[in-house]
Amino acid sequence: MNMESNMEIDSKAEVNTAAAIMVGSRTDNKADIWVEKYRPSNTDEIIAHEEIIQVLNRLIEGDKLPHLLFHGPPGTGKTTTILACAKKMYGQHYQSMTLELNASDDRGIDVVRDQIKEFAGTMKLFSTGIKLIILDEADAMTSDAQAALRRVIEQYTKNTRFCMICNYVNKITPALQSRCTRFRFAPLKPEQIIGRLNDIIVAEHVNATECGRKALLSLAGGDMRRVLNLLQTTQMAYPEVNEETVYLTAGAAMPNVIKHLLSVLLNSSFNESYDILLKTITDYGYALCDIITEISILIVDITLPNAVLAYIVDKLSTIEHRLSHGVNEKLQIGALGTYTFTR
Ligand SMILES: Nc1ncnc2c1ncn2[C@@H]1O[C@H](COP(=O)(O)OP(=O)(O)OP(=O)(O)O)[C@@H](O)[C@H]1O
Ligand SMILES: [Mg+2]
Repeated sequence: MNMESNMEIDSKAEVNTAAAIMVGSRTDNKADIWVEKYRPSNTDEIIAHEEIIQVLNRLIEGDKLPHLLFHGPPGTGKTTTILACAKKMYGQHYQSMTLELNASDDRGIDVVRDQIKEFAGTMKLFSTGIKLIILDEADAMTSDAQAALRRVIEQYTKNTRFCMICNYVNKITPALQSRCTRFRFAPLKPEQIIGRLNDIIVAEHVNATECGRKALLSLAGGDMRRVLNLLQTTQMAYPEVNEETVYLTAGAAMPNVIKHLLSVLLNSSFNESYDILLKTITDYGYALCDIITEISILIVDITLPNAVLAYIVDKLSTIEHRLSHGVNEKLQIGALGTYTFTR
């Protein structure tokens, strides 16, 4: 989609859809990427995490914000939430009162010593109140830098609050964890995503079918960023966002193909299973590990004796493990065929 048509759509959406108001009227032409265009700028717009937002709002209103540690899987709103909180706390002084460092900045021990200390240690002439230092992707910080932070956090608690954000909380040293209030951002549930997804579909005039929306939700696995990226890429590549085009864009295996493969594995001979598996993988260009993942989801819904199910899942996990070590995929297709399944 070129810039002009995008601008046209933006202005249409602004004028006539309630949905555009729901997701905020966005006129920013730079924001071609929907993930950024529809990044909530205030806490009311953030979906799910109601309890976290409520607690944070109360802490902000009571001027009692502690040091924070947000953790959880990608695309669940951690960065969005702290940026919205910062805007709420500082309004137009937001830029001068916040220092945001992420993994793309050098955050070795020198930065902690110099940049963070300098920002935390200086008083602003006209603004009172505490400053905010956001350390995004903090799990990528070196352990030396984390150790240096311990003392810095204590030293500047009087006028500074830290917010650390990470995907893997166990990569943050226990000493830092104990200095922060932890909030876990769980993957978003399909029923939480669907409302906002529908609003964005209306605002952007996307031609999306019901199955297409379901496919987006199931492929995203609770990651709102993935939902929006997949929606935008699919609508740019195809005239309609339906189940097939979404799966094609994502390069994921279609559920009906997987169902067929599973039934072949359960009912056919080794030779037949091997041939069909190989043909499907070559024709569609799927990766075997994706097929294994999908099969493992489907297989638990089939009524099988527990021992058989346990055996199959164990074997699937062995193949997945081997694949993760970069083994020959053809051999592993054979291995999958040999487990046709335990008959
Ligand atoms: N809870 C949410 N409500 C509304 N939009 C969301 C939410 N979570 C994510 N999004 C959308 O997904 C995009 C990415 O969110 P964000 O950057 O906050 O993810 P994150 O949790 O920081 O992920 P990462 O761990 O990868 O940094 C946002 O721009 C927004 O469009
Ligand atoms: Mg983030």
